Amino acid sequence: MKILLIGASGTLGQAVAANLGARHDIVRAGRNSGEERVDLTQHDSVQALFQRLGRVDAIVSTAGRLHFGPLSEMTAAQFNIGLQDKLLGQVNLALLGQHHLSEGGSITLTSGIVAIEPIRLGANATAVNAALEGFVTAAAIELPRGIRINAVSPTILTESVPAYGSLFAGFESVPAARAALAYQRSVEGAQTGRVLRVD
Ligand SMILES: NC(=O)c1ccc[n+]([C@@H]2O[C@H](COP(=O)([O-])OP(=O)(O)OC[C@H]3O[C@@H](n4cnc5c(N)ncnc54)[C@H](OP(=O)(O)O)[C@@H]3O)[C@@H](O)[C@H]2O)c1
Repeated sequence: MKILLIGASGTLGQAVAANLGARHDIVRAGRNSGEERVDLTQHDSVQALFQRLGRVDAIVSTAGRLHFGPLSEMTAAQFNIGLQDKLLGQVNLALLGQHHLSEGGSITLTSGIVAIEPIRLGANATAVNAALEGFVTAAAIELPRGIRINAVSPTILTESVPAYGSLFAGFESVPAARAALAYQRSVEGAQTGRVLRVD
C-alpha cells in the first residue's frame, strides 16, 4: 500500500512508520520534516499535498497540537489552539483526503486517553480528543467506496514520560511500538468507525 503518514518524525509517528514501513510504501510528511512538507492547519497546504501525491491507499495522522493549562486562566485563544490544530487539522485531512483515497482505502486519526480519562490542565485536550472520536464514528457511516475511518487513542507513551509524565499520575504508559500496532490494525484490518484504545 501507498500510505501517507503525517507526523512521521514524532514520538508516535516514528513507531508507526517503523511498523507500517516494514510492509508498505510510506510517504513521510510533517510541517518541518519528512520528504513531503504540509501544515495540517492550512487547507491549501493539505490540498496541495494531495495534488502532488495523487491516489493513496491509506492516510494516517500522528500530528496535532493541544493547549495544556489551568482552567482558571484559560482563554478562548488558548482553547482555540487545539480546535484549529489537532481537531480541525485532522478533520480537514479526512475531508480532503477522502477524495484522494483508492477504493477500500482508510483514514486513521489520533485522539488520546484524556478523551475519556480527564487530567488536570487538560480541558482543551479532553474536548478536542472527544470531538475527534465523535467525528470518526459519524464519518464512518457516510464514507463511500468502502473507505474506512478510525481513531487511535493511546495512553501516555513510555517515551513521553520524561516530558509529560507528571500530568499523568497513576497512568500506565505504553511503548510507542505497542501503540503502533493499533495503527496497523486500523490500516490493514477491516474495522471502521472505531476508537482503538491503547492503554
Ligand atoms: N506522546 C504521547 O504520549 C501521546 C499520547 C497520546 C496521544 N498523543 C497524541 O499523538 C499525537 C502525536 O504526539 P507526539 O508526542 O508523537 O508528538 P511529537 O513528537 O511532537 O510529533 C508531532 C509530529 O507532528 C508533526 N506536526 C505537528 N504539527 C503539524 C502540522 N500543523 N502539520 C503537519 N505536521 C505537524 C511534527 O512534524 P514537524 O516536527 O516537522 O513539525 C511531528 O512529526 C498528538 O496528537 C498527541 O496528542 C500523544
